[in-house]
Amino acid sequence: MKVFNEIEACYGAVRDVQRRGGRVGLVPTMGALHEGHVSLIEAARRRSDSVAVTIFVNPTQFGPNEDFEKYPSDTEADLAACEASGADIVFTPSVETLYPRGFETTIHVSGLTEGLCGAHRPGHFDGVTTIVAKLLNILPADAAFFGEKDYQQLLVIRRMVRDLNLPVEIVACPIVREKDGLACSSRNRYLSPSERSQAAVLSRALFSARDRIAAGHKRVKELVARIRAEILAAGPAKIDYVEIVDAETLDSLTEVDRPARIVLAARIGPCRLIDNVAVKE
Ligand code: PAF
Repeated sequence: MKVFNEIEACYGAVRDVQRRGGRVGLVPTMGALHEGHVSLIEAARRRSDSVAVTIFVNPTQFGPNEDFEKYPSDTEADLAACEASGADIVFTPSVETLYPRGFETTIHVSGLTEGLCGAHRPGHFDGVTTIVAKLLNILPADAAFFGEKDYQQLLVIRRMVRDLNLPVEIVACPIVREKDGLACSSRNRYLSPSERSQAAVLSRALFSARDRIAAGHKRVKELVARIRAEILAAGPAKIDYVEIVDAETLDSLTEVDRPARIVLAARIGPCRLIDNVAVKE
């Protein structure tokens, strides 16, 4: 496994593989790797000749009062996880390397970024699309792998790739969950033991709504009210949103009458957690 901090050397390593006829799979991350990231690296491993991972806590996707300064980081453990799960190339640039003085460009996807996390984290998706576009230029992979936990992010990146004709396949990978159902997240490590056990309510509430939909319930208002009540019954939480949205457009539904996602974001203790499940696939 080769680790690069500099753009040219990393670009060269990816192009070398491709010049020899190999396919490169890219897994962009912000580090603090967990089982979810490992599953992305393994998926990339299965579908590529060479796997590249990026580890970069991207400042432009954090709001002024968010956790950029406190975002967990353990480069040594991350590199060990990359090596163990089969990465060949790891890119660990500095902020100055990716955002040199005078950096002035932003990629903005409209529409899909307006609701859900976009409404609660102004500018977040501009930061995501800008850094992902940069990473796709620095590591011009054949395919890039993203988790469905960040479902809105996945659709926004797909749209950017389509709209800008970026020559990369975007591969969606399923959510990896801990034993009690909590979706794996780097932020889970901020939770105290009691907050950690309370947090399992998020997936429980999603799964029971999914079961109710499978049993024929359709009215979004009632389904959402139940999810919110279930979350709040488990302990103090601040719910940013619970919505049932069209799986492609993210438009809010009033009836679950097509492929949809139940999506939520809630704060438990210091931690903002997101999760979602597919319904009527
Ligand atoms: O999902 C993430 O970890 C980040 O948003 C990403 C895609 C690596 C961009 O910084």
